[in-house]
Amino acid sequence: MTEPLLELRRVAFGYPERLVLRDLDLRLEVGERLALIGANGSGKTTLLHLLVGLKRPTAGAVVAFGDVRETEAAFLPVRRRVGLLFQDADDQLFCPTVIEDVAFGPLNLGLSPAQARAVAEETLAMLGLDGYAGRITHRLSGGEKRLVSLATVLAMHPEVLLLDEPTSGLDEATEQRLIDHLADLPQTMLFVTHDQDLVTRLATRILRLKEGRLHEIANPSRMPIKGLHLVGRGHPCPELRRPVTTAQIRDERDTGEGAGPRAASVASGG
Ligand SMILES: Nc1ncnc2c1ncn2[C@@H]1O[C@H](COP(=O)(O)OP(=O)(O)OP(=O)(O)O)[C@@H](O)[C@H]1O
Ligand SMILES: [Mg+2]
Repeated sequence: MTEPLLELRRVAFGYPERLVLRDLDLRLEVGERLALIGANGSGKTTLLHLLVGLKRPTAGAVVAFGDVRETEAAFLPVRRRVGLLFQDADDQLFCPTVIEDVAFGPLNLGLSPAQARAVAEETLAMLGLDGYAGRITHRLSGGEKRLVSLATVLAMHPEVLLLDEPTSGLDEATEQRLIDHLADLPQTMLFVTHDQDLVTRLATRILRLKEGRLHEIANPSRMPIKGLHLVGRGHPCPELRRPVTTAQIRDERDTGEGAGPRAASVASGG
């Protein structure tokens, strides 16, 4: 078996008032598109931040590209190879205009201003954002910010993508375009989502984070997953509107997680 690109070994992490991850193991293998699901507050974003060293575990080890990483210096090269799409676009975008934001990463990687601009424009075009280059970033809508944030990540051509709710806030047509686009990307990815469509179409493996640990979920292409929400209306697959049974989930201990009012209405077809 090849070495995983990213790995968490018996990792624990807590905030002063709350233990979030406990004794957690994760391996992200080359070529995987791993979906990470779980209830609000279960620690999904925290887990992504640990993988790129934005947070440090209180126990256990973070291993990236074969090396244990503990210091800021050790994580710098990791962040050049792993692109993180933040859950909140306002954490990602900080330049006055869209083109400056998208060209920032390539410039940092050593491209000339002309080269960085060319890469930025190409990436924007690829995401259907032609004409956005001169737009004022902070005046973009939520969905537009989401796509521009993704452009800032993709413009750096990272080897691994960590995407924190990539389709949140997108209208259905844009969501479908984005999923098509993600499906065409060659990168290994780990994405956090509550979007069943994204999981069904993209995931090669699903993990649910619950009570600080990861639980593997059965084949994503064959069944809906309790606790995930359908995004948009008129889903082409009527199967996804059927109630979800506990038997459809391999780890029965997971039933009930995230099944809030909205999940329940999805499961009942309403
Ligand atoms: N800076 C912080 N200080 C204290 N607690 C925090 C901090 N950041 C997050 N938490 C808590 O840690 C837990 C995990 O948060 P996290 O953002 O990782 O959850 P999540 O699974 O990504 O949730 P969501 O689906 O809502 O995005 C939550 O209970 C949250 O309130
Ligand atoms: Mg989150």
